[in-house]
Amino acid sequence: MNNAQPQQNSSKPVVLVTGATGQVGNYLVDAFDRGSGEIIVRLASRRQEQVDKWQAEGREAVVVDLDDPGTFPLALAGVDRLFVLTGYSVAMLAQCKTLVDAAVKAGVQHVVHQGAFTNWDVTDPHFAWHVMVERYIEGSGISWTHLHPNVFMELLSNMTPVSDGKFRIFWGDRRVGWIAARDIADVAATVLTDGPTKHAGKNYWLSTEVASGPEVAEILTDALGQDFQCEVLGPEEFKKTFTTGGVDVESWYADAAVEFTRQVIDGRMGYIGTVRDDVPFLTGRPATTLRQWAIENRDALSAVSAS
Ligand SMILES: NC(=O)c1ccc[n+]([C@@H]2O[C@H](COP(=O)([O-])OP(=O)(O)OC[C@H]3O[C@@H](n4cnc5c(N)ncnc54)[C@H](OP(=O)(O)O)[C@@H]3O)[C@@H](O)[C@H]2O)c1
Repeated sequence: MNNAQPQQNSSKPVVLVTGATGQVGNYLVDAFDRGSGEIIVRLASRRQEQVDKWQAEGREAVVVDLDDPGTFPLALAGVDRLFVLTGYSVAMLAQCKTLVDAAVKAGVQHVVHQGAFTNWDVTDPHFAWHVMVERYIEGSGISWTHLHPNVFMELLSNMTPVSDGKFRIFWGDRRVGWIAARDIADVAATVLTDGPTKHAGKNYWLSTEVASGPEVAEILTDALGQDFQCEVLGPEEFKKTFTTGGVDVESWYADAAVEFTRQVIDGRMGYIGTVRDDVPFLTGRPATTLRQWAIENRDALSAVSAS
């Protein structure tokens, strides 16, 4: 089956988007839909039915399984710019290595990678994987832009199953920086639309507002007019959520996530609790605050509100 629908005789840059069905990816598709049509967007999914759905909507779409480099050459043919977003998995290392290699062969001009909010010498494995991916992209010779989002606000409605009307935070009472997934997507859309002339060699930091779990609970309570409470927990409780079946992720990622909470609590990753807000520079509007995000996501949060 020919699952690409390349637009012929167009001088517009072609942008291939991985991760297009995820938290950020869904907003990124919306952002491109709101765009000015200066680029051709080619959406990628590992699921044929998703590709069929996009094509039925009139979109350009291809199958890309990041675990199967055999799917890369057709998807990358004619691509100028590539958005790399991987899931919560150590597999990101081999996935990004092989995808970037294929991008070099395909003559891609710009790689935009969604990483994490991290120092270069971080020792938490998940963050270290992202740094390794960034270094690999930089060594490829392709122009690059790295996005560094801090903790997604969406985590407040989806991280752990909720009980007793409370949401749980596992890095004790430490403050972390928060960013709305939609803001990450709007930044990515801007960078991919503008291209490497404007954004090559740039790191963009996406951490809008810092707050501890209890401070977030106060913001939600005030914004939504109903009682929210944060249960302040630590690494050992977090570990139990993975081992007792509450949260379904691979073990390499689970260990790294627990290590993250340890390093935030003991200060090695204290920089997580800082504001570095490049959203206005890129999008021309203020970043979404926790309060705004809570109001916009009232329905999603109702599951975690105290009754
Ligand atoms: N959550 C946070 O607070 C946070 C903070 C900083 C950075 N990050 C980073 O953000 C990234 C995740 O972003 P997200 O939450 O938007 O992702 P997500 O919702 O988990 O979605 C992951 C996307 O990747 C796709 N994908 C996964 N494995 C694939 C494969 N083998 N082949 C093709 N596509 C595949 C998924 O496609 P399917 O639809 O086929 O599953 C989906 O579109 C991670 O790299 C994470 O480290 C997260």
